[in-house]
Amino acid sequence: MYLTSTLLLSVTALVSSTPTFKTRQTLNKPIFAHYMIGSITPEHTNQDIIDAQNLGLDAFALNLDSLDDWARNTTSHLFDQADTSGFGLFFSFDHNHFANPADYTEFLKPYLNRTSYFQYNEQPLVSTFNGEDVSNADWATFKEAVGDILLIPGFSRATPKLDFFTGREALDGIFNWNSWPAPGAGKANVSDSDDATYLTAAHDQGKLFMMGISPLQFKHMDSGNNWYLRGEGNLENRLEQVLALQPDMIELQTWNDAGEGHYMGNWWEEPIQNTPIPDYVRGYDHTGYWKVLAPFIRAWKQGETTTAGMVPIGKTVQGAFWHHAVTVDADCETDPLGKPRDYQNAEDVVSGIVLVESGKKGLVAVVTNGRKELGRINLSGGYNPFRFEGLGVGRVKIDIIDEAENVVVVGF
Ligand SMILES: *[C@@H]1O[C@H](CO)[C@@H](O)[C@H](O)[C@H]1NC(C)=O
Ligand SMILES: *[C@@H]1O[C@H](CO)[C@@H](O)[C@H](O)[C@H]1NC(C)=O
Ligand SMILES: *[C@@H]1O[C@H](CO)[C@@H](O)[C@H](O)[C@H]1NC(C)=O
Ligand SMILES: *[C@@H]1O[C@H](CO)[C@@H](O)[C@H](O)[C@H]1NC(C)=O
Repeated sequence: MYLTSTLLLSVTALVSSTPTFKTRQTLNKPIFAHYMIGSITPEHTNQDIIDAQNLGLDAFALNLDSLDDWARNTTSHLFDQADTSGFGLFFSFDHNHFANPADYTEFLKPYLNRTSYFQYNEQPLVSTFNGEDVSNADWATFKEAVGDILLIPGFSRATPKLDFFTGREALDGIFNWNSWPAPGAGKANVSDSDDATYLTAAHDQGKLFMMGISPLQFKHMDSGNNWYLRGEGNLENRLEQVLALQPDMIELQTWNDAGEGHYMGNWWEEPIQNTPIPDYVRGYDHTGYWKVLAPFIRAWKQGETTTAGMVPIGKTVQGAFWHHAVTVDADCETDPLGKPRDYQNAEDVVSGIVLVESGKKGLVAVVTNGRKELGRINLSGGYNPFRFEGLGVGRVKIDIIDEAENVVVVGF
């Protein structure tokens, strides 16, 4: 049996009420989503832009790992659509492919002044996935060649330290790619200590810090790409960490990386057909995260520093929960890849977040698995994370009941 990706389902509200919106302040608090450029149809890239705008995102960070025709074409129609829809785009050049920024200097130039090219404080933003080996001199040469940009690479292998920018003066900031507990940490929650170090290092130098948010990492493609980074205790803690730390910008990891299991938006079959990926993600819709992300984005944009003010938008209750589709001790004998690396860090739990209208009292969330009740939690107005152990076989369901034990919302 395949250990399949996290199953995530939304808890939609059955009861609506008049929403109470706070006035949105005009803080410069952008939030992006990492977007894998594949050979995606214009119809689908257009849908992605519509959905991301509705969710409240400012831009996609376009992960580019090729300059072949298919990649140029997808990039080109994304920009054409974004130019007319008011959405932002910027590049995140993938240094697992590119060795040096000189490789994409000429490609980048004509995009920097497109209407949709995302700017922060009037400077076009350029990011990466990795690139730790590029010298400061090479980054400086690149910046001279492309003009006035804001260079904030996404590093996963660098060591966070307070003098991080010494010898890296050409960088305008740093994006910490690592938004999951390290495998060696065991059954630990995600930590924000590296983020705090980078943030201090950046702000001490008048530079910027970008923080990532990701639900989990699960890859099951081949023997070299078969791993799990915990989703237990990740998203619900990360949202709190981000609001408390107040980085300068946020990147969701990711919108559409189906292969790594951490997509929080749509994924489409055409760029990954003829790969093993569709077989382990098909049927696992992650758009349930939007029930939590939209209120989170609103809180972030308003400059809130805790999750306490995260409330449903136009509903009494909304939220999402997530769990593995098979248990940790599942028999994977027939799976040629076997269990993913670090599967021992997984736990048989159901986690989730229920948001309740401010001031609403007396609601209880009851989580069941098959006929077994896993747990219940008294809900308060605002943010209610939960985590229940004992996940086994059978459908997972959440009922939100009122004081008279009437079910007001059901999710499964
Ligand atoms: C890219 O677009 C061009 C122009 O529309 C087209 O001729 C070409 O076939 C496309 N290439 C790929 C690989 O999609
Ligand atoms: C955009 O930049 C290119 C050079 O990369 C230049 O030729 C073009 O005139 C610029 N367009 C606008 C609208 O500024
Ligand atoms: C992880 O965080 C949850 C709260 O979300 C807490 O209840 C739990 O004790 C934490 N676990 C560890 C190992 O720190
Ligand atoms: C939940 O509320 C009920 C009824 O008010 C109370 O008896 C119970 O102790 C509460 N449970 C928790 C965990 O607070």
